[in-house]
Amino acid sequence: MATGAALQVNNMNVSYGESRVLFDASLTFPASAVSVIVGRNGAGKTTLLKAIAGFLKPGSGSVVLGGDEITGLRPYQVVRKGLKYIPQDKEVFSDLTVRENLELASYAMKDHDWSKVLRYFPKLQQLMHRKGAYLSGGERQMLMMGRAILGKTHVLLVDEPTEGLAPSIVQDLVAAFKQLASHCTLVLVEQNLAVARELADQLYLMKEGKVVAHLADRAGIESLAFEKDL
Ligand SMILES: Nc1ncnc2c1ncn2[C@@H]1O[C@H](COP(=O)(O)OP(=O)(O)O)[C@@H](O)[C@H]1O
Ligand SMILES: [Mg+2]
Repeated sequence: MATGAALQVNNMNVSYGESRVLFDASLTFPASAVSVIVGRNGAGKTTLLKAIAGFLKPGSGSVVLGGDEITGLRPYQVVRKGLKYIPQDKEVFSDLTVRENLELASYAMKDHDWSKVLRYFPKLQQLMHRKGAYLSGGERQMLMMGRAILGKTHVLLVDEPTEGLAPSIVQDLVAAFKQLASHCTLVLVEQNLAVARELADQLYLMKEGKVVAHLADRAGIESLAFEKDL
């Protein structure tokens, strides 16, 4: 087992009923690095993140977080260990303000550090009194990330953070991820290959429920140039 791995997934198999969608997935996520998972729609990326975060029970395999086995723990137990998961749908409480959305998370987390959130996402300061319903996609993504890092966060899993966002907002998020990487271990599912290449310290490629490539150096990551390579 590699030392310095913040998170490790070993031989994970996941099925929905009779239908098996993850096959012996093994991935290692080093501490304080940005790992990016790419692959076409239906490759199993979301299923992998949900299983790591405790929302799906793997049929077999294990998840090890900082040396602690967390396989089979419930999502709230996983969160308490400092692993946060931001799902693909970018849902915030639409009837609550940004501040209230954050406060809700802070009650759940007990330990919270507002200054950290505003350091990484200064734009949230001006939005504190705006209701979730009136936020743009990029602002919702920032709120979700702010909520996730309010308490202690060792590992942050983010599913398709830039999906459907305007290019200027994508650049803001890329900058935020780069800063966050010095603070925690990032695992991103990212369909935008330019973003994936810019951020990745290592990159996993998934296809039909399997990990089919692991690119751990710049040359390898740069070589993944086109959607058709996926
Ligand atoms: N709740 C579910 N029930 C049954 N099959 C599902 C469910 N969610 C996803 N799948 C199937 O599992 C496969 C992987 O899906 P998913 O993990 O969402 O892929 P990705 O995130 O890479 O697009 C797909 O074939 C998808 O249709
Ligand atoms: Mg998905």
